[in-house]
Amino acid sequence: MAELVARHARVTIDVGTGDGRAVLAAAAREPTTLVLGLDANAAAMAEASRRATRPARKGGLGNARFVLAAAEAPPSELAGLAERVTILFPWGSLLRGCVGGDAAVAAGVAGLVATGGTLDLLLAPAQRDGLEGVPIDAGALASAVARAFDTGGLGLVESRPATEEEVHATRSSWARRLLPRREAERRVMLVRLVKLDGRDSVGGPEIGTDRGS
Ligand SMILES: C[S@@+](CC[C@H](N)C(=O)[O-])C[C@H]1O[C@@H](n2cnc3c(N)ncnc32)[C@H](O)[C@@H]1O
Repeated sequence: MAELVARHARVTIDVGTGDGRAVLAAAAREPTTLVLGLDANAAAMAEASRRATRPARKGGLGNARFVLAAAEAPPSELAGLAERVTILFPWGSLLRGCVGGDAAVAAGVAGLVATGGTLDLLLAPAQRDGLEGVPIDAGALASAVARAFDTGGLGLVESRPATEEEVHATRSSWARRLLPRREAERRVMLVRLVKLDGRDSVGGPEIGTDRGS
């Protein structure tokens, strides 16, 4: 991994990547970035992993790689490596961890982010999902995420509805499923946090700061 990292200008990690479609798209867009997808489900990532490791002349992407791991126990070699971590439409323990229901998950994710790096979440919970402990209200959702990652040294810098373009640009398979439905009650929220210097929570950058995506 160290050798792979050294060959690239920066590292990004998509946690709970599922079928890895978003990783392949990001790797194709940013050839100098090492784009890692991490998920606890090997089968979901298998096809994308195969595609990435093909020879370049057959569409392979040497800068896309997949890691089989739970968010709560990522490999130690990934610690503090990522300039940007994304979590797109999480479910299960990953979603619970993002809203404060599983401290080990939040700690695992926070540990991946480099100092000064960002954690971007796209979340779209709706009442009809019946997810206990997952706030639906946008403000409550952002507060829950901020609290969940606070002890990991991450501070909230932005929270707002994601634009359709932003959601589409992720190339996430779940975005593809969600967008055409346009359920009135389901809004996609972008929540962005930044890893502050040190682990203590501080006043932090102002909400609305845009560090690029
Ligand atoms: C709804 S899918 C979203 C997949 C992908 N991000 C997308 O947007 O298409 C949620 C993913 O989170 C993964 N996941 C859930 N809990 C996890 C955990 N604790 N650690 C790692 N992955 C997890 C699941 O295996 C699944 O692939």
